Amino acid sequence: MNICIIGAGYVGLTTAAVLAELGHEVHCIDHDERKIRLLNNGEVPFYEPGLEELIVKNYNYLTFSGRWDYIKRAAVVVICVGTPPRPDGGTDLSYIEAVLDRLAATIESYKTIVTKSTVPPGTNEWMRAELIRKGVKPQLFRIVSNPEFLREGSAVYDMFHPNKIVVGLEPDDDQSLTVVQAMYAGINAPYVTTSLAGAELIKYASNAFLATKISFINEMARICDAFSVDVNDVARGIGLDPRIGPHFLQAGLGYGGSCFPKDIKSLEYVARSRQVEPYLLQAVQTVNDTQLDVCFQKLNEQLAPLTDKKIAVLGIAFKPNTDDTRFSPAEALIRRLSENGCTVAAYDPKATLSEPLAHVTQVQSVHEAIQGADVLVIATDWDEFRTLDWPQVKAAMNGTLVFDGRNCLDRHAVEQSGLRYMGVGCP
Ligand code: NAD
Ligand code: UGA
Repeated sequence: MNICIIGAGYVGLTTAAVLAELGHEVHCIDHDERKIRLLNNGEVPFYEPGLEELIVKNYNYLTFSGRWDYIKRAAVVVICVGTPPRPDGGTDLSYIEAVLDRLAATIESYKTIVTKSTVPPGTNEWMRAELIRKGVKPQLFRIVSNPEFLREGSAVYDMFHPNKIVVGLEPDDDQSLTVVQAMYAGINAPYVTTSLAGAELIKYASNAFLATKISFINEMARICDAFSVDVNDVARGIGLDPRIGPHFLQAGLGYGGSCFPKDIKSLEYVARSRQVEPYLLQAVQTVNDTQLDVCFQKLNEQLAPLTDKKIAVLGIAFKPNTDDTRFSPAEALIRRLSENGCTVAAYDPKATLSEPLAHVTQVQSVHEAIQGADVLVIATDWDEFRTLDWPQVKAAMNGTLVFDGRNCLDRHAVEQSGLRYMGVGCP
């Protein structure tokens, strides 16, 4: 099939590379000229394991440009542009709107338009109406909602091995499912077919449920602290029940990233717009919004006064295996430490601080970060940090406290070296 992807970000580039690998001819359009230049030089503008290799491998079937006339040749158009949060919590659909303008000016023959961007319920229906309003004949296109569930850091793997493919269809559409199945031929996953809004809501519900698990275990961690119980024991104990499951029960600094925070807010916003009071979604966000305060308070109690302390922070990205710092709890913690007058040496294997901060230096290795540090903070659970040589760490530090803000270290190994271990919800 000839497929056009719009938006060369995490979702768009991964989709493009995977569809090319599956044997399709793929063109990826982005309005960011710098991105297109890099991609045409064989470089991916961000770090995502395995993506660059897959793109380079499929160069014969995969092209990049800012040219919308490529749409004319495509049978399928996949929309992967950003849907960032608005200040009021709703979703900014201006990038989607800009795409609709371009499509309306270009579509001359039949297209299946697939929306992969995460959009609030009702958006795909609105997109259909907008295209018609802008002059596209209704018989020239169908809209399909096909939300994406990949995780950054394992995007390529997730797209080849999804646990489901969700397809939302217009009520009288009896052809687009076959088109989507042909597009994903070679990927083995159960299909969930539903209405357009059904697919949109499955995506929001999925992110909201995962965020709920994280806020649940973070609240449990606070209660565990109060009773001197290890939250990791509680997570293991409840996670063995298949009705609960072991995943997304790692207590820490809270969830971040470009999706959970915005999607939970957006779901709250749309619920309210239909007079539904989203009590649980609010609580999930309240726990998350205060999680950093709780962790900061713990540090403060141990080190008071924090001012003038030298702190080594390992991790800047919002999670491991990515260089993405959007809504990163690690970066928020570094900012908080800086505002409190601490001197911070921050290290991340891939991510860079998104702005300069007072008294904060980004260094190039763990070794550099820990020299003379009063405390070591693990803010992102990169594998590299789990396996540090703890006696060497102790020798390099000035103080003895290790704050494991992601509950990812082997506590025993840390303590054996003579360092003090403090986790989130660990006595
Ligand atoms: P991103 O910011 O990495 O990429 C979006 C790209 O779209 C950018 O390169 C931007 O230049 C381009 N773009 C924006 N408007 C454009 C236009 N009018 N014409 C051409 N290009 C345009 O975003 P992302 O992380 O890939 O997310 C995209 C969507 O997918 C969002 O709705 C997000 O919620 C959803 N999503 C993201 C992930 C993830 O892990 N990042 C996972 C699932 C779903
Ligand atoms: C998340 C979802 O997992 C994807 O399915 C979804 O497609 C994506 O959002 C999206 O819609 O964009 P992602 O944001 O890449 O993927 O990362 P996650 O692995 O879900 O982690 C999100 C945040 O939760 C990170 O800050 C992570 O550190 C935190 N987290 C995760 C915890 O604090 N505890 C956990 O047990 C798991």
